Amino acid sequence: MAVRRIVTLNNSALREKAQPVAKVNNAIVRLLDDMVDTMIEAKGVGLAAPQIGIAKRLIVVDAGDNQYLQLVNPCIVERTGSCLDVEGCLSIPGVYGEVDRAEKVVVTALDKDGKEIRLTAEGLLARIFQHEIDHLNGILFIDRATRLLDPEELNDQDREEKE
Ligand code: NI
Repeated sequence: MAVRRIVTLNNSALREKAQPVAKVNNAIVRLLDDMVDTMIEAKGVGLAAPQIGIAKRLIVVDAGDNQYLQLVNPCIVERTGSCLDVEGCLSIPGVYGEVDRAEKVVVTALDKDGKEIRLTAEGLLARIFQHEIDHLNGILFIDRATRLLDPEELNDQDREEKE
């Protein structure tokens, strides 16, 4: 396992549409493990492969209690409700904004064994899924933010989770 370099806003990798993974082989599993290491090292709560310059549909998510979800070809199949909250992104250091997201989502994906799974998430976890899956389509939270925080509000965001 290894920590990879996270690319930032000026890197075109963040704007590409990532390609579906045809087969969950050892290389993909290693990549997912590196993504977890990279997310933990960066103190983030989610990471998508384009953020380490790889245009594949892979995301990792911190589900709390030292549980890390590693998903291949994740897809949101249901969205319910809406919720406005502050988001940040490991690829856009120092910027935070309010983004309206579905309150609850159902996500389908393949796990590390290539098995189909279906997850239901709400609140922060649902927000992380939506943020990371946006990354796979070249969409950043600043595209969706209804308002970016002012500099004087930023001090309060030091503890805010970054995705
Ligand atoms: Ni992000």
